[in-house]
Amino acid sequence: MSLVELKNLKKEFGTIAALNDLSLDIPEGSLYGLLGPNGAGKTTTLRILSTLIEPDAGSVMIAGLDAIKHPREVRKQIGYVAQEVSIDKILTGKELLHFQGDLYHINSELRDKRIAELIKRLDMSEWIDRRAGTYSGGMKRRLDLACGLLHQPKLLVLDEPTVGLDIESRSTIWQLLEELRFQGTTILLSSHYLEEVESLADQMAIIDNGRVIAEGAPEYLKQQLGGDRVTLRVREFSNELESGKVKDLLANVEGVRQIVVNRAQGFSLNLVVDNELVIQRLQTHLNKAEIPIFAISQSRPSLDDVYLQATGRTLMDAELALVGKRDKKQESKSSMR
Ligand SMILES: Nc1ncnc2c1ncn2[C@@H]1O[C@H](COP(=O)(O)OP(=O)(O)OP(=O)(O)O)[C@@H](O)[C@H]1O
Ligand SMILES: [Mg+2]
Repeated sequence: MSLVELKNLKKEFGTIAALNDLSLDIPEGSLYGLLGPNGAGKTTTLRILSTLIEPDAGSVMIAGLDAIKHPREVRKQIGYVAQEVSIDKILTGKELLHFQGDLYHINSELRDKRIAELIKRLDMSEWIDRRAGTYSGGMKRRLDLACGLLHQPKLLVLDEPTVGLDIESRSTIWQLLEELRFQGTTILLSSHYLEEVESLADQMAIIDNGRVIAEGAPEYLKQQLGGDRVTLRVREFSNELESGKVKDLLANVEGVRQIVVNRAQGFSLNLVVDNELVIQRLQTHLNKAEIPIFAISQSRPSLDDVYLQATGRTLMDAELALVGKRDKKQESKSSMR
């Protein structure tokens, strides 16, 4: 059964179409990951389903309730942890948790019990009585998460919960999310970390330009791609032009499905090939052309490959493009076979 059903959502901000006919079903009890480049529409989706903003068109059903008509009812079922941390600076963390408990009308005995549990579970006791204005990014993130969990929501919505956290804090949060799922909480999280979605999520969707472009279990999406992945490095690759020449040479080898220049890794070439035999063929071609192979490695499809297939670029490319170094979208598209 679906706990969340989003149908044909549209949302514009002025001239920007943030959501463009987005539909999504989130099964009850799942840990659902939303992956997508900056500006794809993840936060807008999460804010709509958490009833913070309304869509221009489309429907939002949460636990069988129309969230646009009954936002107050729906809000009781949801814990929302926003992307931007907006914590009061004057109050202490514990005071903020009390305040949050009162917002949700939790009786004071239960509230205090829950607060004590969360302080322990999220390892916050050392600093929870300090003013929140003095907290580090990771401390704020944990306090935010505690606020979202205080009323024991049926659905926990997390917008990039572990961004900027150290490895230890990240794994504390991952563990907590797994425990919550085990206890029956449905969790929806957005992330830029492929490994986060890969290791946590049982279902996922890739969003791009305000719509879902791939969805399913991570394993299923990887299997759908088929083929073997090969990463090839040749000594000459000191710039894109050089790797481009080798790419052209290999593009016509039988059994090569796709070649992409990976700028993030020394202009190496990422290939999708039909099977292992093709790797021998590649080596023969390179030997004939007297191009020495520096390294060649083979792997099963990863989520990054799923992402590449769905969006025409790697997640790394998408991030670089946003930094404004250059618009790689077209280039990546044209560098695909
Ligand atoms: N309040 C707003 N006013 C104007 N434009 C907005 C507003 N909120 C979102 N947008 C625009 O809508 C689009 C989708 O934004 P959204 O925040 O949903 O993306 P996102 O997938 O969460 O990205 P990120 O990974 O960077 O957090 C972007 O182009 C963004 O600039
Ligand atoms: Mg966002």
